[in-house]
Amino acid sequence: MYNYVEADSENLEYVTVASVDEIGDGERLIIDIDGEAIAVFNIAGLYYAIADVCSHDDGPVAEGELNEYEIICPRHGAKFDIRDGHVLTLPAIVDIPAYPVRIEGNEIQIGLPVDA
Ligand code: FES
Repeated sequence: MYNYVEADSENLEYVTVASVDEIGDGERLIIDIDGEAIAVFNIAGLYYAIADVCSHDDGPVAEGELNEYEIICPRHGAKFDIRDGHVLTLPAIVDIPAYPVRIEGNEIQIGLPVDA
């Protein structure tokens, strides 16, 4: 699974996904990039992006309840840290992808890995 913590910043391509006024504090936006669902969260003015996929069975996770930085999968309750995609509880045992986020002017951009 891709995780920006381990990514080489030289191999990232930043794409604009929204403007800052589209995601209010505590809100999330789920977008589609080339067929991949990615969720962007605004937590007190800081933005985080994860793949909208639960590693338990590859279903969507991002519409689950958010408790601080923990997203709770709405189906079987696995928890993930939206800051880095790390799995926190069973039944999932594998991290989910997380992406770096930057703000350029009024735009929210996420870094996607460039295919080798
Ligand atoms: S699908 Fe997410 S915990 Fe089962």
